[in-house]
Amino acid sequence: MAILEIIRMGHPVLRRRADALSDSEIGSRDIAHLVEDMVATLHDSGGIGLAAPQVNRSIQLAIIEIVESSSRYGVIATFPLTVFVNPSISILSEETAGHWEGCLSIPAIRGFVERPQHIEVTYQDLAGEAHSMVLEGFMATVMQHEFDHLEGTLFIDKVRDTRLLSFEEEYETYQIEP
Ligand code: NI
Repeated sequence: MAILEIIRMGHPVLRRRADALSDSEIGSRDIAHLVEDMVATLHDSGGIGLAAPQVNRSIQLAIIEIVESSSRYGVIATFPLTVFVNPSISILSEETAGHWEGCLSIPAIRGFVERPQHIEVTYQDLAGEAHSMVLEGFMATVMQHEFDHLEGTLFIDKVRDTRLLSFEEEYETYQIEP
């Protein structure tokens, strides 16, 4: 396992639509190895999600895991390590709510983003099997943030009021209210 370099905003790969993975690619050793390294990288970073383009691989793959020690986002529900291949989102309710988001590719910045809070995600696992899950609230935001990376979109694109952008340190000091 290796800790991979996380590319940062400005790198063109973060702005590219990632390629879908074929069934034969999903089961390849290359992808198994990449996922191992992405998990190690996510654990090293203290983040809660990592999309393949963030490690300079322009493919439709992301991992999400929230453990007790995922302190970057305060007290939040845990979520088991899940690998999402070729994910897509259906919005079940247009009603939105905002959360303060951060991104390993935009270090030390937080921004307030409003997104739909009730979605269904369909995706394949590493065996190529199709799954779906319904998500609400903060987890719906987390999924949309990660899967936006696969479309070349960053959370900062969706911050509608740029006064609700802050460095993490100031965010914690001043408790900016939306
Ligand atoms: Ni991100």
